[in-house]
Amino acid sequence: MAPGAHTVAVIGTGKIGELMLSGLLRAGWPVDRLLATTRRQSRAEEIATRYGVRVVENLAAVAEADVLAVSVKPQDADALFDEIGPKVPADKLVVSLCAGLPTNFFARRLPEGTPVVRVMTNTPALVDEAMTAISAGVHATATHLALAEEMFRPLGATIRVPESQQDAVTALSGSGPAYFYLLVEAMVDAGILLGLPRQVAHELIVQTAIGSAVMLRDSGEHPVKLREAVTSPAGTTISAIRELENHGVRAALLAALEAARDRAREIAAQND
Ligand SMILES: NC(=O)c1ccc[n+]([C@@H]2O[C@H](COP(=O)([O-])OP(=O)(O)OC[C@H]3O[C@@H](n4cnc5c(N)ncnc54)[C@H](OP(=O)(O)O)[C@@H]3O)[C@@H](O)[C@H]2O)c1
Repeated sequence: MAPGAHTVAVIGTGKIGELMLSGLLRAGWPVDRLLATTRRQSRAEEIATRYGVRVVENLAAVAEADVLAVSVKPQDADALFDEIGPKVPADKLVVSLCAGLPTNFFARRLPEGTPVVRVMTNTPALVDEAMTAISAGVHATATHLALAEEMFRPLGATIRVPESQQDAVTALSGSGPAYFYLLVEAMVDAGILLGLPRQVAHELIVQTAIGSAVMLRDSGEHPVKLREAVTSPAGTTISAIRELENHGVRAALLAALEAARDRAREIAAQND
């Protein structure tokens, strides 16, 4: 699909909606093929000024756009679909960015046959390094999935997963940036404990994180292999790793991601 062959409306332009809008613009999507909706007038003015896109009412967006990228908070989706659901012509594609909302939630509120695609992206979309997982709902075809991929590829990597895996995706890559930030924060603290100035500790660990991430992505090596390359016998790294294992970091991660997955399920159940 040529960029901009379809008109995309971002419905509920908050943090994630704005990320999508700016990503599409950076990818060369024509500004006159983009629409945005907001709840507050001040936010509408902010988006219009920042990106030059037309900010319209929800129903105007539904009438004009080919693709509705829904990016409201899950708890606001009910009220939104009370307003727009029955007015969405069945030939539009609904792309939901809402964490935890199953495609059935939308199918029940839309005219029979309306295709719905569910995506889970993450905040590194801001720097075109997002991880976006895409799933087809009941009426979505391969063409709809391909269109969703075209929309999210400019923001980073995309992957197709069955919808049944989306709660796990939410726990891993949706919330994932937060886990890395927490690790970095803790390691900067550790640097301070060891007597380094905060700024030096920050620089050391941020670049180490970037270097490690690029090696993970580009070397194709298993993380165990990469870790072994840094872990010499009776060396410093293994002393640290013993402490990480003693403190149950691996077990904590397993439990933490399970908790995030369970919370995603809970949100889905509340909205089912
Ligand atoms: N943040 C993340 O890292 C992340 C990652 C992956 C997925 N998500 C998903 O992305 C969705 C949006 O999250 P977010 O962090 O971007 O939330 P957000 O910043 O609160 O954005 C949602 C926006 O939708 C607007 N809105 C609510 N109801 C509306 C309506 N009826 N019509 C028009 N606009 C309406 C809100 O307006 P107000 O400003 O008036 O509240 C707000 O600006 C959520 O479903 C979340 O699960 C978020």
